[in-house]
Amino acid sequence: MTAAAFSQPPPDTARLRSVLGQFATGVTVVAAGGKTPCGMTANSFTSVSLDPPVILICLTRDSELCEAVLREGCFAISVLAAGQEDLARYFANHARPRGAEEFAKVGWSPGPGTGAPVLDDALAWFDCALVTSHDGGDHEIFLGSVLASGAEPQRDALLFFRGGFSRSLHDAVPRSPEARTPSLARLGKSDDRQ
Ligand SMILES: Cc1cc2nc3c(=O)[nH]c(=O)nc-3n(C[C@H](O)[C@H](O)[C@H](O)COP(=O)(O)O)c2cc1C
Repeated sequence: MTAAAFSQPPPDTARLRSVLGQFATGVTVVAAGGKTPCGMTANSFTSVSLDPPVILICLTRDSELCEAVLREGCFAISVLAAGQEDLARYFANHARPRGAEEFAKVGWSPGPGTGAPVLDDALAWFDCALVTSHDGGDHEIFLGSVLASGAEPQRDALLFFRGGFSRSLHDAVPRSPEARTPSLARLGKSDDRQ
C-alpha cells in the first residue's frame, strides 16, 4: 500500500489528533545507534506476537531515528516510569541537542542483544532486531524481534492521555512479579536473551 492510499479524503489533522488522544497509552523512548545514539519519544508501541516475540513501533519518516533504525537494523524501546516525564518531554522536543550531545546527559546502557541504548530506570525495556518495515503514510512501521527484555514492575508507569502526562493508578492493579528481571546494569549480558 502506498502513502497516497492513506490520504483519502484530505485529513483534518488537528481534529484527528484530538480524537486519537482519547486513547490512553504508556510512553516509550525508542533509541538506536551505538557510538552516537539518537532517540525519540513514542507511544505507537504495541505488542504483535508472543511466539515469535515481535513488537511494533511507528516512527515519523522525518526523524533521524527512522534513518538510524534502517541503517543499524536494530533498536531498543524503554517504557518510561512515572518519574520520567522530563525524558519524555526531552525526546519529544525537536530542538534537543543532536549528535554526541543528544544522550550526553541521559543515563543509559547498551542493550544486551544489539547495543542499542536502554534508558536507566525504565519501567520496562525491549532490545530488538529489525525484522521488517512498512509504509505507514507519514510514518514508517517497524516490526522488531525481541532479543532481550526486562521490567521493574514495582515502578509506576508514565501515561499519556488527551495530550498530557499522568501517573498510573498503581494501587488499582495487581503487580506481576514474574515480569521482574534484574536491572540492565546487573544483567550478565546474556541471561535474558530469548
Ligand atoms: C507522548 C508522545 C508520543 C509520541 N509518539 C510518537 C510516535 O509514536 N511516533 C513518532 O514518530 N512521533 C511520536 N511523537 C513525536 C516525537 O516524539 C517528536 O516529534 C520528536 O521530536 C521526533 O523526533 P525528531 O525531533 O528527531 O524528529 C510523540 C510525542 C509525544 C509527546
